[in-house]
Formats: sequence, structure tokens, C-alpha cells
Amino acid sequence: MTESAPLDPTTTDAWQLLSDIATDFSPDLRAWFADDAGRAERYTFQAGDLTVDLSKNLLTDEILAQLLQLAELSGVAPRYRAMISGEHINVTEDRAVLHTALRRPAEGSDLEPPKGFTVDGQDIDGDVHATLDKVYAFADKVRSGEWTGVTGRRIETVVNIGIGGSDLGPVMVYEALKPYVQAGLECRFVSNIDPSDIYEKTADLDPETTLFIVASKTFGTLETLTNARLARQWLWERLGRSGAIADTDEARSGAVAKHFVAVSTALEKVAAFGIDPENAFGFWDWVGGRYSVDSAIGTSVAVAIGPDRFREFLAGFHTIDEHMRSTPLERNVPVLMGLLNVWYADFLGAQSHAVLPYAQYLHRFPAYLQQLTMESNGKSVRWDGSPVTTDTGEIFWGEPGTNGQHAFYQLIHQGTRLIPADFIAVANPAHGLTDDSGDGGAVEPGADVHSLFLANFFAQTKALAFGKTAEEVRAEGTKESIVSARTFSGNRPTTSILAPELTPSVLGQLIALYEHIVFTEGTIWGIDSFDQWGVELGKQLALQITPAVDGDTDALDAQDSSTKALIAKYLELRR
Ligand code: F6P
Repeated sequence: MTESAPLDPTTTDAWQLLSDIATDFSPDLRAWFADDAGRAERYTFQAGDLTVDLSKNLLTDEILAQLLQLAELSGVAPRYRAMISGEHINVTEDRAVLHTALRRPAEGSDLEPPKGFTVDGQDIDGDVHATLDKVYAFADKVRSGEWTGVTGRRIETVVNIGIGGSDLGPVMVYEALKPYVQAGLECRFVSNIDPSDIYEKTADLDPETTLFIVASKTFGTLETLTNARLARQWLWERLGRSGAIADTDEARSGAVAKHFVAVSTALEKVAAFGIDPENAFGFWDWVGGRYSVDSAIGTSVAVAIGPDRFREFLAGFHTIDEHMRSTPLERNVPVLMGLLNVWYADFLGAQSHAVLPYAQYLHRFPAYLQQLTMESNGKSVRWDGSPVTTDTGEIFWGEPGTNGQHAFYQLIHQGTRLIPADFIAVANPAHGLTDDSGDGGAVEPGADVHSLFLANFFAQTKALAFGKTAEEVRAEGTKESIVSARTFSGNRPTTSILAPELTPSVLGQLIALYEHIVFTEGTIWGIDSFDQWGVELGKQLALQITPAVDGDTDALDAQDSSTKALIAKYLELRR
């Protein structure tokens, strides 16, 4: 374990100054913009292809200076360098944290750390690229039809079985990059141990053309192993029923060899499940589950979009890794966004953070970010075991615009809570459609529907920032009794992120951006953003409770009165 005790940020002058500012803070974005013609330009930054406008945040130069001071004192930049060079900054698990190594290009003379670096005796670049080559070769075989099922038919459906980081990343990326998926190939994702999930996902599939990828870092996760066994049972039963395989152990293991591959760090457990190690893709304990979509965990995506696109995806991550490593703090976008989150969470009392993609293909991005941000920074102790000294983490949530507008934006616009929001949009849609009908009210015939869509993106951030005063409402002739209900306070902070197009590279850039926002916040708070002990207790208790649910009366009697009564009711209701 290499990390020394973290700085307590609350003891710094910067923290004190920020607290003082927050005490009498009355932000006025209308005045700030009116008095400062350069505000938008000064607070707009570029990271790779991402243009990030921070100007509609509750931010002044004075606040920014103190936040940057906090980043400096907490050592965000040196700790990032320690992370990418393999120091064991995951102290509670005594592990390196090297997801950035997963996307280093195969070639490059100016890499930092230099090409060929080793960590704990491992040749990191060599192992990463050997695994990627194996994943790419497999992806090519499936895509070309060279890899067939047991009856010789080509694969049409890939079912990824995983949960948490072994599911949320692949499904989010697959959904986001649908326009790049090879025609005739489909991916599905089974995660929940609720049997309805695998039932629904396999009900209409042809076993002869279905390939399962069992994705589990530990290969010990109850949900994933249960679903993998159910999938194997389904395969054997369906292939047997149609006469495609004989009723012998040999035929069944032959079917598994052609219809199951695995991704895991625990290759011996993969073999014990009956999957040939030749058909297994490894990764390493220095890749956290929620940081793993760019490892072999992304195999389903590599099959769907192909190796070339997957390389572009990884290159996108690397672009932002380089930005994070080499850009001064005052222009470093992930650092600035992480600092703003600290400002809102610790000084202005924000408890949640909305992520609102104006891109339907990003519809799973908020769910993906929930694991990345909340499993990483939802902690009450620091990396030396001492209690945190301030609030940590934020509740991340969101839905794609404009759906969210018609659901929960009311609360963001006029509720009593401060909800900072990230708006994400792309300039060029995958499908540009025009509305030619001419009967859409204000919309002219031939209107570009994507522009109509983005008009909402611009309008929402504007409304949130500048609001609508009572005088403006009155000037519209509104009767006095409802003026206050129709008034908008404004000063509701947003960040606008604009990219040219949702390419694999841009998606990689967006993911890396949020990874490094999480890192920045975790460093300021002094917490280990790379462990997840908080999920263990529930897992242990589920195993202890299973016998009670199965009818073991001693196990039932051992429960507390509430749990016992609930299980008893369940058993009574169960047919
Ligand atoms: O329960 C949390 C967790 O450990 C996540 O961190 C991880 O992504 C998920 O479970 C799945 O774990 P595995 O990939 O080992 O099956």
C-alpha cells in the first residue's frame, strides 16, 4: 500500500474561503453574463472532440481560483500520474489501478509511462495488446461466419451474461454505437438473477445461431453464474429437442465449446464451468469492474462493431487520458468538472447530479454513470481508514432529453433543490430526418428534426440559467394570482457538452471524461474510488437467507422479526 494519509481538504485556506463565499452566496447568472462579455468564451474548454461550456455554472473567477487551489493541494495531478504508472492507489485491496493502460496505443514513442513499463513484474502493454489481439481475432471469426455453432450455422445473436461492470458498460456502448453494428448480428444482455430476464432474452432465439459470452471479473458472482448455468441448460435442452445434438456428455460439451466463451480474471474457474480456456479472454485485477468496458469485457461490443471501430473507441479514451495527464489544471476539463461537483456537493448542498443526454443512442449512459460514480465515490471513510471530513459522492441520475423534459424537469426548474445538470449533445445525428409535412405549427416544411431537437437542448440550459422574472411574466398579461407559479428563479447550474457526432471515439472520450471526474473528486475527498466493500454485506446475507426462503425453519427462526415475517408472507403467497 503506497498512499500516505490524505490531506483533510476542510483544513485548507481554500476550503475556508469557499465556505465563506458559500455562506452569503447569491449567484446572478443574468448579471454575470451581462457584465462580462467574455464569460462564455473564458469558461468554454476543449478536450479532444468535446466542447465543454461551464459558463452557465454558479462559478466566478474567485471560486474557480480556490477550487484549483484545492486540486493543487490535494495532489490531483501527481496522484493521477501515480495511478497511470501502476502505484497501488487502490489501498484497501492493495492493487494498482490501470484502466488507462487498456487504451494505450500499440505503438508510440511519447507514451507516459514509456512503452514496455512493468508493474509488479507484469509487462502491461504486452499483456493488454496480446489480449486485444485475441479478442479481435475472435470478433473477426464471428463476424465473417468462420466461427459457427455446433450445427455449422453462423452466429446471429450474441448474449452477454454479466452484471454491474460486466453488463452496464457493454450494454451502454452497444446501444450507443448501434449504427455501427454489423447487419445480421444482434447483441442481448442478461444481468438480473430474476429468471424473467434470461427467459425474455432467450425466448425467441435459435440456439444454433446463439453465442453466449459469460463476462465476470471474479467468475464468482451469483447472478452471472446462475444465468450462465440457465443458459447452458437452455442450449442443451433446445439443441437436444430439435435433434441437433445427441443425448451424450460429449455432445453437450461440444455444444458448450461452440456456443460459450468467457471473459474473466479467474480463468481456472472458467475451465471448471466447462468453457475451454482457448475460448476465454482474460484481464487483470488492476481493472475495476466499472472501469472495464475497454478490456476484454467489451468483447460483445468488439464483435458487434468490429475491431477497427473498437480500436477507435479505445483511442477516444486515450485522447482524454492524455488531456488529463498533460493539460494544466485551469484548462483540464475533467478536473474542472470534478471541482465543480465538489463545489456543489460540499458548499452549496447539492445531493444529486443529473446527466441529460440529448442523443437517444446514449439512453443507457446515465445508468452506466450511476455505477461509475456512485460505486466509486459513495464512501464514508478515507483511504487511511479515517472518517471522511465532508460529504462525498452525489446521486447520479438522468434520462435522455427530451423525454426527461416531460417528466422531471419541472423539479429542476422550479423545485427547492439544487440539481446541477450535465447536458450532452452531438451536432450530427446518425439519422438526419426532415419533417416535410408542413403542418407542424411553427415548423416549416423540410425542417431538420435534429435541429428542432437541439433547440430544446439550448433552450433548457438557457431557461435554467436565466429563468423568467415576475416582471417578465406580468408583462405577458398573466393575472397576478399565478405570477409566482409562472416565475423561474434561474441560477440553476448546467454544463453543456457538445461533440461533432456519436462516433466510437467520441463515446470513449465521454466515458474517460467521467472516469477522471470521479478520480478528481475522490482525490479531493481522500477516498479510494476503486474498491466497493459496500456491496458485500447484502451479498453475504442473501446467501445466509437463501435456506430460509427455501423453507428451512431454523434458518427462518434466526431472522429478525421483520425479515422473518416478510419471508413467511412470501412463502404463504408463493404458489
Ligand atoms: O457487486 C458489485 C460488483 O463487484 C461490481 O463492482 C462488479 O462490476 C460486479 O459486481 C460484477 O462482478 P463480476 O464481474 O466479478 O461478476
